[in-house]
Amino acid sequence: MTSQSIQQSGPVRTARHGDVLVIVADSPPVNALGAAVRDGLEAAIKEGVADSSIAAMVVRCDGRTFFAGADISEFGKPLRGVPLPDLVNMIEASPTPVVAAIHGSALGGGCEMALGCHYRIAVPSAKLGTPEVKLGLLPGAGGTQRLPRLVGTGIALEMIVLGNPVSAQKAKDAGLIDRLAGENTLEADAIAFAREIAGKRPIPRVRDRHVEADAAAIAVFRAEHRRKLSGFDAPEACIACVAAAAERSFADGLAFERDEFMKLMTGTQSAAQRHIFFAERQAAKIDGVDPATPLRPIAKVGVIGAGTMGGGIAMNFLSAGVPVTIVEMQQEALERGTGVMRRNYEASAAKGRIPADAPDKAMALLTPSLSLDALADCDLVIEAVYEDMSVKKELFGKLDAIVKPGAILASNTSYLNVDEIAACTQRPQDVLGMHFFSPANVMKLLEVVRGAKTAPDVLATVMALAKRIRKVAVVAGVCHGFIGNRMLMPRQVEANKLLLEGATPEQIDRVHVAFGMPMGPFQMADLAGVDIGWHRDPTRIENIRDALAAEGRWGQKKGAGFYDYDDKRRPTPSPRVAEIIDGFRTSAGTKPRAISDGEIVARTLYTMVNEGALILEEGMAQRASDIDVVWIYGYGWPVYRGGPMFWAQTEGLDKVVAGLERYGFPVARSLKAAAGNGEALK
Ligand code: 3HC
Repeated sequence: MTSQSIQQSGPVRTARHGDVLVIVADSPPVNALGAAVRDGLEAAIKEGVADSSIAAMVVRCDGRTFFAGADISEFGKPLRGVPLPDLVNMIEASPTPVVAAIHGSALGGGCEMALGCHYRIAVPSAKLGTPEVKLGLLPGAGGTQRLPRLVGTGIALEMIVLGNPVSAQKAKDAGLIDRLAGENTLEADAIAFAREIAGKRPIPRVRDRHVEADAAAIAVFRAEHRRKLSGFDAPEACIACVAAAAERSFADGLAFERDEFMKLMTGTQSAAQRHIFFAERQAAKIDGVDPATPLRPIAKVGVIGAGTMGGGIAMNFLSAGVPVTIVEMQQEALERGTGVMRRNYEASAAKGRIPADAPDKAMALLTPSLSLDALADCDLVIEAVYEDMSVKKELFGKLDAIVKPGAILASNTSYLNVDEIAACTQRPQDVLGMHFFSPANVMKLLEVVRGAKTAPDVLATVMALAKRIRKVAVVAGVCHGFIGNRMLMPRQVEANKLLLEGATPEQIDRVHVAFGMPMGPFQMADLAGVDIGWHRDPTRIENIRDALAAEGRWGQKKGAGFYDYDDKRRPTPSPRVAEIIDGFRTSAGTKPRAISDGEIVARTLYTMVNEGALILEEGMAQRASDIDVVWIYGYGWPVYRGGPMFWAQTEGLDKVVAGLERYGFPVARSLKAAAGNGEALK
């Protein structure tokens, strides 16, 4: 039966299909449940309930997805329209049954909406999830009370506390949806389903279901995920709410959920995590480049160097289905590199992270070669060779002559001057930096270094490509170390000075780990290799690092570095390192003093903020939030602190300035100004 009349209320319209009222929301890009959508839905449901000729209702969305959640941009602002929890309760209470028809993603408030409906049908490609925890929140529209009642404590914990969505099939197996629709026939299938259930009574309401308390499942879950969740407030609140679903009445559970939600919503962690949500999306936007700029097609990529970095870089493209030609100088190195790539894929397949046939599929797209000539028809060539300017210059000169006109030439340099490299070619407009982070197939960050002459479409192409290979890309300017490594430098310098003045590696690392970093500077040095960047002359000992390297204390790989390691690579403080540090203190005539944790924070973290401010002043980052994205995705800065620039704001810029001044650092002009007039760094 075709629709007879169409009513429109803001972004929501209704259409009658005989005795079924189809309610359609259309609020691009992701049908977030903002005030206008909520009000429109409320009006539509009321219309259906009031009409005795309507036997059932279907709620679906236009566009690319079902409701992707509450509208995050409304958070922290005065409430307008019907509150989401009330809307969900009202739908659930409807005396006329409602079917949720899901495509794309039903996330957060969208999933909670579906839980308030009486039946759920989804296309096979749909995903359902409650990712609020990733925003430092919990499902606050009844999700913590309804989901466990519907799918049990175990799956509810996985979904709510980890925040990962499930496929439609998994949702069906778990009882979260009732039926799978045809991929392209969602509306028709949902209407047919609605007719089937229209007369069924009682109407199934999730609130009426009961879930058994399962303390054992909660204990196991906590133990299993303790490390991953430590430092975050939201996961514990999520767990408490899931437990409450079994222990309390529905009404009490909802009230408990509301309290916990409001506590999180008004806290710093959620503000930080929401900041990063938008910062990540903002980072993709390039100042001064029209978003409609036509992109260059990238169908084939070349990578030079099959070492750890080159291999990891190549894997990103292979995994995304892009053919790669990888070039090395020696057959043995080429075989070693491609062998490592295959083994990495196979290890992922063995762990079930990728399908069993993925390693073969990916490796079939790889062409190993010993000749740069093999790169002639690539659309993008990324150089990942030894970090030496003369080597890179020579290479780019050769590439310029070999690779087809219009192809993009990129360097994976982590420090060197991209403009100098570009100047060795006849096409500096096609040259930029693509700085991947190790392990390059795992780390999400990509610094895209815009040279003085890089063409806008080249930059736009690489930023779009980054999304295709699932990286979070940030535009950086040409300066030593770009954004991330440049900010690492003051931290490193101060950490070393602090050792000489009286701190220990353990103390400095402890302060950083307590702050939420995955490891401190000396643990990081031991992991990466104390010998990295070492001049390799054991007689030339200018600093503590040289002394360690000269003794073969190269870090974890040697069982000794700033720490001693046992055969399971467990670290203990090293008496020998203490001796070495003492030796340097004596020869410098420094009497060690007690160093407070606060001093460590000021000198290793405030100095990073200061460097970030300089980077902004010089235009080397487009915006402060880009710097935050770099540190979250490239260096493991705790997301609940929102990145260094956001954190400085929560710490208080005046406190940061005072700390820097106290220890004698020249404070960046913009930082001082922002602190002075109470503004944020932008
Ligand atoms: N609220 C407001 N804006 C949102 C949004 C939301 N829930 N979800 C996405 N957007 C915006 C993005 O900021 C972006 O805006 P821009 O184009 O101006 O940068 C635009 O929509 C497109 O988003 P993506 O670039 O992320 O698009 P993708 O297609 O890559 O991904 C998605 C789509 C999977 C839906 C992804 O956007 C996503 O994960 N969204 C967030 C989902 C979420 O966290 N939902 C829970 C919200 S909190 C909640 O519901 C509380 C409730 O329990 C009370």
